Amino acid sequence: MVDYKEKIDLNRLPRHIAIIMDGNGRWAKKQNQPRVFGHRNGVKSVREVSEAAAEIGIEYLTLYAFSTENWNRPRPEVNALMSLLVETIRKEVSTLMENNIRLKAIGDLGKLPDRTLEALREGIEITQNNDRMTLVLALNYSARWELMEAAKKIHWDATKGLDTEKLTEEIFQNYLATNGMPDPELLIRTSGELRISNFLLWQIAYSELYFTDKFWPDFRKNDLYEAIVSYQNRERRFGKISEQLA
Ligand code: IPE
Ligand code: IPE
Ligand code: MG
Repeated sequence: MVDYKEKIDLNRLPRHIAIIMDGNGRWAKKQNQPRVFGHRNGVKSVREVSEAAAEIGIEYLTLYAFSTENWNRPRPEVNALMSLLVETIRKEVSTLMENNIRLKAIGDLGKLPDRTLEALREGIEITQNNDRMTLVLALNYSARWELMEAAKKIHWDATKGLDTEKLTEEIFQNYLATNGMPDPELLIRTSGELRISNFLLWQIAYSELYFTDKFWPDFRKNDLYEAIVSYQNRERRFGKISEQLA
């Protein structure tokens, strides 16, 4: 097995990595298990990848855990996911403290079940002073929801005197749920699906995209490191030509 960690250039790390954790259900089905079995096993990957990212010095890791569209799944699966979230956050807070990781959440959090929201708020509060890495859970998140919210807040501020003629991209970003965070340089999606599924549409304008066929419960530290090596081998031109970059 190739050890990708030693191939990483620590001076050129992405500051922010975002991951669409996908394939839990298919991973379970492959072994004739219920979909929830896949979600349960996905938690181990979350732990591994969070540790892996913190270990090498990533500042922000954003994990897409539940989209606004995921409410359309069968009720028992939604309930199981919400319970698993409560259980996982409660259980993992001590690991987050040990690893000096701060927990944060983005999404329409007010619509989460009370128990889930309570566990989340607790986790966020307990870890608020940790400063090695910020782990951002995207929960009941969708990019279109986020952009609509930004539009509404800007409209409100305009009635209070905000001069919308002077609105810049920098100011606009302050209205997003990711306010204060750098845009992800690297976006990873597992399970072989080649789509964005309403994730961070504004923020990934110039992200490098990395797709792997591995299902999320099989994703391990070395897989994250492999994605980072792939990212580091790319030329990010931002509209320029190659010769202008040297
Ligand atoms: C990702 O795995 C987890 C969530 C979306 C909550 P899926 O549950 O989407 O698994 P597949 O894509 O059906 O295999
Ligand atoms: C995207 O995965 C949402 C999360 C990973 C939480 P889905 O499995 O819900 O995406 P689609 O529906 O296949 O696009
Ligand atoms: Mg899926």
